[in-house]
Amino acid sequence: MTESLEQIAKAMVAPGKGILAADESSGTIKKRFDAINTESTETSRRDYREFMFRTTDAMKNHISGVILYDETIRQKAADGTPLVDIIKAAGSIPGIKVDAGAKPMAGFPGETITEGLDGLDERLAEYYKLGARFAKWRAVIDISPVIPTNACIEANTEALARYAALCQKNGIVPIVEPEVLMDGDHTADRCFEVTETTLRSLFNALARHNVLLEGTILKPNMVVSGKKCATQAGVQEVAEKTIKVFKRTVPAAIPGIVFLSGGQSDELATAHLDAMNKLGPLPWALSFSYGRALQAAPQKAWAGKKENVAAAQKAFAHRAKMNSLASLGTWKADLEKA
Ligand code: 13P
Repeated sequence: MTESLEQIAKAMVAPGKGILAADESSGTIKKRFDAINTESTETSRRDYREFMFRTTDAMKNHISGVILYDETIRQKAADGTPLVDIIKAAGSIPGIKVDAGAKPMAGFPGETITEGLDGLDERLAEYYKLGARFAKWRAVIDISPVIPTNACIEANTEALARYAALCQKNGIVPIVEPEVLMDGDHTADRCFEVTETTLRSLFNALARHNVLLEGTILKPNMVVSGKKCATQAGVQEVAEKTIKVFKRTVPAAIPGIVFLSGGQSDELATAHLDAMNKLGPLPWALSFSYGRALQAAPQKAWAGKKENVAAAQKAFAHRAKMNSLASLGTWKADLEKA
């Protein structure tokens, strides 16, 4: 039976579940491995991802889907089982990052345009055969006193919409990710303003390209203060501002919103998600699609050593559980100590 886009999208944001973003490109995963003194080879990358996907209870109970990188979707576990089959056996859905990265945008210093549309139709058809039922494309919007420009926002949301339309043509649910970066010294109010403009532009572009909203998942930033801003918005303020901007811009037809963690600490990413869900009821499911906020703890515990795998799996299961509770609005800070 082939599942409809709506069914897949709904399963991606099933109650208490969220997404594991394990789609680091080879360059990014090397940076993460450098930090734990581990060489990045095809085998070490495989071993690392394999132990996460084999953390069976966490995968079954808390992880609705996994975003993979091109190398990983083709890789086999040490015993020869395709990694995709391990994910599916846990009842989780394999997904795939399909953008080719954010490249400097000609004529717009400091801004980027995400590439990867050429040949995308054919690549999506192949990824579907390899088992992918959803995809991800990340656009990057940076903030300074003079950026983002409208040209950058419009070019990026147009590309997101073209990507989304191609995904749906191929039976794949698009995760549309317009990430407003938290680098810089801007205030949370400035982040609010840029996020509002970006989301409005994105949903205009999706409408223009006849993208089915019921079969689309949004992956946004939260409305936070820039990392270097002297006054940092607190958890409640972040939650309220983020929900306010979504109520203005995100149609209720979108089944779910899954956040990126974007450099927030593990516990803060969890606390923010929990505080937002406590503001419900909301028109959309609100969950996580964390990379760093799910993987920093297991990476540290693992440190590239086989004998640490059990401890690393425990660390991964703990973060998955905490974020699952946050997606239901039932997390408490003292559970972190358990
Ligand atoms: P982070 O949660 O580390 O921001 O990664 C999520 C992601 O997929 C960014 O594209």
